[in-house]
Amino acid sequence: MKILLLHGPNLNMLGRREPDVYGRTTLAEINVAVRERAVAAGAELLAFQSNHEGALIDVLQAEGWDAGGVIINPGAFTHYGLALRDALASLNAPIIEVHISNVYRREPFRHTSVIAPVATGQIAGLGWRGYLLALDWLLSSVEH
Ligand code: DQA
Repeated sequence: MKILLLHGPNLNMLGRREPDVYGRTTLAEINVAVRERAVAAGAELLAFQSNHEGALIDVLQAEGWDAGGVIINPGAFTHYGLALRDALASLNAPIIEVHISNVYRREPFRHTSVIAPVATGQIAGLGWRGYLLALDWLLSSVEH
């Protein structure tokens, strides 16, 4: 089974970016941890980050159709990225939306997700381990 792990804008700055909100774990460390667990379970992980909505959509269109699951932290696109939402909505694979911070305890503009209605589920506020939890759910619920 192929799993897509997509990261939206500014998540390449994890570790340096507002560490009090997002922690000190880097994106590279997250990708390694998720990949190790995926490979140990016999799955393949394709990880990709972009600051550009179209680039994320390009990867979803190219790689999403035969994926067994998608884990995505859309960053700020969460709150207004309608083209990204449409790209996700067109896929058959289960989609887990992950946020490192608890967006519902933060500014009001973060309380709305245009992605959530097309996602299977959402994990928010559990730090970078939310990605591992999303992977565990995909691995346990999808045949591979
Ligand atoms: C985030 C929350 C978003 O509101 C923000 O724009 C991000 C990161 C999170 O992981 O908590 O870039 O998705």
